Amino acid sequence: MEGFARGLPKAELHVHIEGTLEADLLLELAARHGLSLPYRTPADVRAAYRFTDLASFLGLYYRNLEVLRDEDDFRRLTLAYLARAADDGVRHAEVFFDPQSHTARGVPLGAVIEGIWEGLAEGEGLHGMSTRLIMCFLRDRDVGEAERTLTEALAYRGLLAGVGLDSAERGHPPGAFAGVFARARAEGLATVAHAGEEGPAEYVREALDELHIQRVDHGVRAADDPELVARLRRERVPLTMCPLSNVKLGVVSRLEEHPLKRLLDAGLIVTVNSDDPAYFGGYLVDNFVAAQEALGLRRRDLVRLARNSFEAALLDEEERRGYLAEVDAFAARRGVAV
Ligand code: HPA
Ligand code: ZN
Repeated sequence: MEGFARGLPKAELHVHIEGTLEADLLLELAARHGLSLPYRTPADVRAAYRFTDLASFLGLYYRNLEVLRDEDDFRRLTLAYLARAADDGVRHAEVFFDPQSHTARGVPLGAVIEGIWEGLAEGEGLHGMSTRLIMCFLRDRDVGEAERTLTEALAYRGLLAGVGLDSAERGHPPGAFAGVFARARAEGLATVAHAGEEGPAEYVREALDELHIQRVDHGVRAADDPELVARLRRERVPLTMCPLSNVKLGVVSRLEEHPLKRLLDAGLIVTVNSDDPAYFGGYLVDNFVAAQEALGLRRRDLVRLARNSFEAALLDEEERRGYLAEVDAFAARRGVAV
């Protein structure tokens, strides 16, 4: 099954580039910039990766990303992620980044965006894949800062495909960002938001109604609300779900309890993604395999998840058709009817 999941052409739609910072690059960049870290070896780093909830993870995530200082750091981080993604059969990757986590400590926005962009362009060429960049606002910081970040980022409008919303969810309902998202939409940017990860189903509804998002990141808690599930199906709003992340952060107590399969069977556009793979114990294939084992997914379910990933992607229709044809050809070769 792992070989099947790996060979299957897939899009990854929910991955934070800062969350792909592996222990070896973390230590190397700290040394390069003369920064001291509370770890000496990659094993020390990984031993610290025990989380009880989103807050305990975010504390470490924001601390570690401080080793990212210049354009070349962002370029290398991005290239390393795309190499791993390509190994996992990812044909198209949509990458999140958190600009405020860098600008707030004095790293220029241009170094962040241009560094990631160079990594994406180089990785596309090396691995024959396509990519998009999505800029996320931090919902636990004030809206004015998000507004200023958007204004500044519009100087790089051509490098951005969309905007998103992430960081600590509980107590930070999405509606506060309605104005920023309206401006982003007016600029022709796609809009997505984390909702229903640690926050309730109501935050998913609010993100749909007030931010007019076209995709929900996580959306686990939406499963608690039958009326919302019916709406997500009717309006064909995709969910970018992250099974290993949800177990590590206690969003579900066991993978067996994850609503992914139930929502997939209910006809929602469910996708599987890795979120912060350096922290949560696996890249995209690991997430597919873990979900497959815990939820009893069949090969045709994996094919459906792969098709959904391209249906939900920010691709033009010709690119989309091409990728869907790749999935269908793979399924046909393996004798899986779709
Ligand atoms: N949830 C919310 N915000 C985040 C995450 C996450 O898993 N990773 C990075 N920012
Ligand atoms: Zn996320």
